Amino acid sequence: MKRTKVISFRLPLIVCLLTCGLLYCFSYLIESSFEKFSIQQNVSELNSVISSIERELIYFSPNDNRDELFQNLLLILTGHHHLFVYIIDESGKVLYRTRGPNLAVALKPANLEKIITEHGTTISNLNKSSYRIAASRVIVENDKHYTTIVAVGRDLQLEFITRLRNGLGLLIAISCVLALIGSFISIYYTQKPINRLIKKIEKINLKRLNYRIPTSSVPTKYISLVRAFNKMLNRMEDVFQRQRNFTADIAHEMRTPITNLTTQTQIVLNNARSTEEYREILYSNLEEYEKMSQMISDMLFLAQADNHQLVPNLIDIDLVSMLTMMCDYFEPLTDEKNITFNLEGNCSHIQGDKLMLGRAISNILSNAIRYTPQNEVITITLSQTSVKRVKIIIANPGEKIDSRHLPHLFDRFYRVDESRHRNGTSGAGIGLAIVKSIIQTHKGTIFVESDDRSTRFIINLPTAISPHNH
Ligand SMILES: Nc1ncnc2c1ncn2[C@@H]1O[C@H](COP(=O)(O)OP(=O)(O)OP(=O)(O)O)[C@@H](O)[C@H]1O
Ligand SMILES: [Mg+2]
Repeated sequence: MKRTKVISFRLPLIVCLLTCGLLYCFSYLIESSFEKFSIQQNVSELNSVISSIERELIYFSPNDNRDELFQNLLLILTGHHHLFVYIIDESGKVLYRTRGPNLAVALKPANLEKIITEHGTTISNLNKSSYRIAASRVIVENDKHYTTIVAVGRDLQLEFITRLRNGLGLLIAISCVLALIGSFISIYYTQKPINRLIKKIEKINLKRLNYRIPTSSVPTKYISLVRAFNKMLNRMEDVFQRQRNFTADIAHEMRTPITNLTTQTQIVLNNARSTEEYREILYSNLEEYEKMSQMISDMLFLAQADNHQLVPNLIDIDLVSMLTMMCDYFEPLTDEKNITFNLEGNCSHIQGDKLMLGRAISNILSNAIRYTPQNEVITITLSQTSVKRVKIIIANPGEKIDSRHLPHLFDRFYRVDESRHRNGTSGAGIGLAIVKSIIQTHKGTIFVESDDRSTRFIINLPTAISPHNH
């Protein structure tokens, strides 16, 4: 919660600072180019007036009629506003001056000389007004010269610049505030659907795991996020459901034999029995105990597989001889139904845990024998698919398994036909789950196919497992 708050303040602030910086640069550019332009304008006006005056003064001798000069000067100055001229001779006597500021006091003598020699200008403030001043000297006769000082008023320009600066400042301030408000609003509206989403997600708990966030209620850009989230919920619900079923199934599988044992014991205790009868009953109880103990060890095996605690004891295995041995082991069962094994193909040695792989294959074989009709053949095909992989196919004829069951066959406690289980012909339904764990521990894969011809379990195994995989 805190984190979102930090983000929602930081972003508008960044936007505001960026806007502010950008506008400041922009107004600095405008202001400085206007300033440059007005300086250029002033300087060129001063220069043009000075050179016109110089032209007049060059041809003027102190003995000449001044009226003509004054008239020409007047003509030069016509059209120039806020322009002031001051002409003095070498003794400091004023030859000509316009009405306005006394330019003789505006400059210190040293300053004046500097402007004249460097052909520069200077700024001076007189009577609360600012002027740009230029000066020049014209030598007319041997010792005589005239100094011209020309000034142009800068007040209007300065006022304009001040107004421009204030206006731009105000523009920056308003833009910053607007950027701040704008980004707050946009964040608010962007965050709104997310907050709604968060509220919906917060309502999901174990009891409401079947709830899915409707994609119609979220903006388009979040649809893929919501879909991914819903898919995650599907997976979670599936896992939880299986976990629940698993627990319920364990309880159920345990309850039946325990109830049987309890009832049987109660009946036996009701009357006195002969030693022979007690022995018989104890034997039958022993069978139930063994079944329960087998199931508990199966559960422990699966729990170990879940926690990745199964470490295969890798040795070289000759699959052909191992499978032959297993077929021999099942002979008593196959003889009963007159079923025969047909072992085909060949392959080199593989590395694996002999006990685990034996357990996996015997699970598949015992299923195959259970579901194969009498007088039929179970085919085991071995093949080397590549240098590094082998394939084992165990195919048995029999009733086709409906395709909707196939993806669940390796699930714990999953049985295709529950009623068959009730008849006592089927086991607990964890045999294939164990098979899958074993094959996965060996970095192999297993899948099942079933059609009218046969049901086939196809196992792919690597010939060697790198020790780093464990
Ligand atoms: N070869 C097969 N032919 C037809 N159905 C099969 C075959 N192998 C397995 N099945 C079906 O898959 C289900 C699950 O098999 P699995 O070996 O896991 O359990 P099970 O044999 O019923 O019990 P358990 O192996 O724990 O004693 C079986 O109940 C059966 O319905
Ligand atoms: Mg089985």
